[in-house]
Amino acid sequence: MGLYRRAREIDFRIAALPRLPAPQVAILADPGHFDVVDALNPHMLDERGELKRADRTKAREEWDALRAAIEDCDLRVIVLDAVAGQPDFVFCANTALPIPGAALHDGRPRAVPSRMSHPSRRGEVEPMVRALERLGVLVEPLSGPAERFEGTGDGLWHPGRRLLWAGVGPRTCDEAWEEIAARYELPLVRLGLVDPAFYHLDTCLALLAEDACLWHPPALEPAARELVEALGPRRIEADPREAREGLACNALAVGGRVLLPAGCPVTRARLEREGFEVREVDTAEFQKSGGSVFCMKLLLDVEAASPAQGFGS
Ligand code: ARG
Repeated sequence: MGLYRRAREIDFRIAALPRLPAPQVAILADPGHFDVVDALNPHMLDERGELKRADRTKAREEWDALRAAIEDCDLRVIVLDAVAGQPDFVFCANTALPIPGAALHDGRPRAVPSRMSHPSRRGEVEPMVRALERLGVLVEPLSGPAERFEGTGDGLWHPGRRLLWAGVGPRTCDEAWEEIAARYELPLVRLGLVDPAFYHLDTCLALLAEDACLWHPPALEPAARELVEALGPRRIEADPREAREGLACNALAVGGRVLLPAGCPVTRARLEREGFEVREVDTAEFQKSGGSVFCMKLLLDVEAASPAQGFGS
């Protein structure tokens, strides 16, 4: 086990990997300070190269509906207070990588805090670390030379199996994954990203079920595409325009249901044809910042959860 960089290195089958329980808790961050203030990714600029403008009232309505949709998937939602001066905290998946207790020898859930690539987002990490510690999660920062690491923006757990899909690109570097693979003795599949519009792995790959994924292959290096193909989950291709303009792959799958960014009808039809129940969630305001459903929550396994107290609403 370790870091897998090429298809020919694969020496396991996903179905033979140890099982992981489904996450039971979703941490969300209140959108009270959400805004588009600085172009951190290409989605944040319009055709004229100007910063898009977010409608804060509409953002709140969308976020409330997203929260309800996540609760409807039988996930217990914990809401963190918004942080002044951190307009992107609402994309809280980026601030840490939880390691489920069931993936570890001693069964104790851990989390690795992010090293945000943009200095303006670094203030998001501490509030998440405090919340995780209050939930009983052991927080273990990187100690090596990794310059950038953006948590569950680039690190995606395979549903139900002890395997991490690890994106390398503008937000997460190889050194981060090398340290994590070695420290936790985890199998990691390294996928290189090639297109600035798909700057996190969660913008071009969504693991939908143990045997299925939604993806946008042109955003991945050829070696990465071969890895996904070699590991063999059923691959549903997102419509290319919907992937780029509608963040179609930033979807969240829970128990056969897919929460899909609204406005991706071609991708929706493909998912339904493969037997998924699709629920569209309007995240138009947050898409002006380059994020949607998947990155607006951090999932935790149940062992980490203790009764929520004092986390704001
Ligand atoms: N504006 C944020 C950024 O560029 C959006 C992050 C969205 N996260 C994601 N995983 N897609 O950092």
